[in-house]
Amino acid sequence: MSQPEPAPTTSPASGSASPASGSANPASGLDRREFCACALAVAAAAAAVSCGGGGGGGYSAPAPPPPPPPPPSPVTTSETKVSLLGQPSGTVKDYTTTASGACPLILGAAQGYYLVRDSAGIYAFNASCLHQGGRLNPTQTGFGCPCHGSQYDLNGTVTVGPAPVGAVLQHYQVSESSPGGPLVIDPSKPVSASARLT
Ligand code: FES
Repeated sequence: MSQPEPAPTTSPASGSASPASGSANPASGLDRREFCACALAVAAAAAAVSCGGGGGGGYSAPAPPPPPPPPPSPVTTSETKVSLLGQPSGTVKDYTTTASGACPLILGAAQGYYLVRDSAGIYAFNASCLHQGGRLNPTQTGFGCPCHGSQYDLNGTVTVGPAPVGAVLQHYQVSESSPGGPLVIDPSKPVSASARLT
């Protein structure tokens, strides 16, 4: 007794029996064409959500970071090497463009520097507290921050927190604008905390 032959599988689109184009997806029960259409729809929906589309309320991609600020410009002071070296050790000159206030913060493009003359020579450093950017004020022994009480020695090293004790304010190159001319602080040229103009 002969067995009836099984009917050939027919693709609705092509009309041909094609195991490659019409095979069933064993995991989902969808044939390949339906499976691909489904996958494309899911991908498109995901892309719309990730791009902030889809009518709002979805996840928004983070904004690109802002461009870096321009490098700070050199500051020409009213001091000369001769005039400052003629001052007693410990002399502090203030060059700042920051706002005043009980706890002024040095933020953005605002600049603040101290020009100091000690027994070894002349140097300059940032006047911004290493804790949260408060504007430092000169004290009897160095500098203090009015915001939360950090203390610095005359070379800009933190002696009392909350700024990290032992950290040092960034020093910058000090040079003469011309021989014997006004001193220039160049914040684009960081130098060692032991550097001195003599
Ligand atoms: S900002 Fe200077 S101690 Fe906090």
